[in-house]
Amino acid sequence: MAEIDSHLPRIKKPWAITFFGLFAVGGLIAMPLLAGRPDGAKLPDIVRFIGHFHPLLLHLPIGVFTLIVFQELATIFGKQSAEPKNTSLFPMFFGAASAIVAVIAGFLLFHGESDAYGSNSIAERHLWGGLIFAVTAVFTFILKSWTVALRANPAFFRLLLFSSVGIMGFASHDGATLTHGEGYLTQYAPAPIRKLLGIEKAKLAIPVKSSNEQLVYADLIAPILERRCVQCHKESKAKGKLRMDSFEMLVSGGKGGPAIEIGNSAKSHIIERIELPKDDEDHMPPEGKPNIEAHEIAVLKWWIDNGANPKKKISELNLPASIKEAISKLMPAAATGTASSPAQVIEKSAAPDAALLSTVEALSKEFPGAVSFESQGSSMCTFTAVSLRASFDDAGFSKLEKLLPHLVTLDLSSTKITDRSLAKLGPATQLRMIRLAETGIKDVSLDTIAKLSSLESINLYGTKVTDAGISKLANMPHLKRLYLWQTAVTPEAIKSLKEKLPSCEVITGV
Ligand code: HEC
Repeated sequence: MAEIDSHLPRIKKPWAITFFGLFAVGGLIAMPLLAGRPDGAKLPDIVRFIGHFHPLLLHLPIGVFTLIVFQELATIFGKQSAEPKNTSLFPMFFGAASAIVAVIAGFLLFHGESDAYGSNSIAERHLWGGLIFAVTAVFTFILKSWTVALRANPAFFRLLLFSSVGIMGFASHDGATLTHGEGYLTQYAPAPIRKLLGIEKAKLAIPVKSSNEQLVYADLIAPILERRCVQCHKESKAKGKLRMDSFEMLVSGGKGGPAIEIGNSAKSHIIERIELPKDDEDHMPPEGKPNIEAHEIAVLKWWIDNGANPKKKISELNLPASIKEAISKLMPAAATGTASSPAQVIEKSAAPDAALLSTVEALSKEFPGAVSFESQGSSMCTFTAVSLRASFDDAGFSKLEKLLPHLVTLDLSSTKITDRSLAKLGPATQLRMIRLAETGIKDVSLDTIAKLSSLESINLYGTKVTDAGISKLANMPHLKRLYLWQTAVTPEAIKSLKEKLPSCEVITGV
């Protein structure tokens, strides 16, 4: 033995490496434990600046470790001497060090962009996966140093090396899912490979939800009442003691009793009043107010006659052709598959691609029922947070990023979104209708909205917008409807807006 030893250079025991390695491991593990819940808003930009290097840095340890694994395999299966060499120590050190740097950058990204990642379980798992990989990488380096110094059996080192690379694989997969969405790698795989992996084609093709999945009350009835009646029939101004701003209020009714008679439109007060001759004193809406249109009346009666259920979807009710047509007039941006406007015919030719399908699929899992395609084969989408309300916030909105360019209608009424979300709405250039009623948005958001030139309808009911904000909308070419009840906007501001946009109807409570 002594003879062999004398051929080899003397190697000191790697105590320093061990000490610093363990110190680094301790620091890595302490990092997330001490940091608490992520709150990007409180952190300085430098955090995000460094964080954004994560996608770049992470490729270093992956490349280095892949190389080391191949080298090791070559030693195992090849003719190379099995004697552990200290030449491979430096790549090992470089791999472990770059893993630590990549993990720190990733950690800063997670915290700095907490609205995007803070409540995302894959992001959290990716963070821990990356961290465990970096820790095992450091241990692998330490073990390698000892193996070389003691000329020990490399089996333990190899075992740890292969495990850490396995962990790296898992962590990288989560990271890739975060950036590219689920199934990115396999979505264009040839059929036999997909079959082998158990990915059925059906899984790729999402069931297309048409606008028939929308709710009759929330998506059709409430907007009609809001437009025509609620201005005089709401909490702060309940004419005839009748409020019409919720389903329950319709049922409890006003001075003359319930406003709707379920199943019988002819006996329902609201319909009776609407159908009175125009010159009758009791006709609703009263003289001087824009009258309710025939297709709106038809839809109201159809809903009451079919049970006036606030939870039924459009598809769940019997849909005569006349009603389909009336609905398509009410939801120009979400036709019911029968009458299409010319704009939709053009968009229909552009079928959704796989990337969009997987975006929509992921979002439908996260927000059931909120996202749907505008119509069969269309690549245009609608998003409604009606059923999510207060549970939908800026963090939720940031998940819509990839959907934005495909959105035609967006309903965020009564959600917790703020101006921070609206600032990111720029890519939603196809948007034709947006509802922001009763949200915390303020004038600044109208800067972004004013640039979305396809918008036809904007609902700002019950928001903090003021004259200054509204004046920004003066150059919106297609704007037809602007809802402003319960805002601080003055009649003068509305007047000057209408001079610039004569074809825009401004609906206020006054
Ligand atoms: C410009 C204000 C205004 C608008 C808009 C308006 N109403 Fe009225 N409404 C009134 C006033 C004022 C009364 C009370 C006087 C009366 O009974 O005629 C009333 C009373 C009623 C009543 C009777 C309530 C009761 O129980 O006695 C019904 C029903 C009604 N409105 C339905 C409607 C419907 C449906 C619409 C929308 C299509 C509408 N109103 C829009 C002002 C309005």
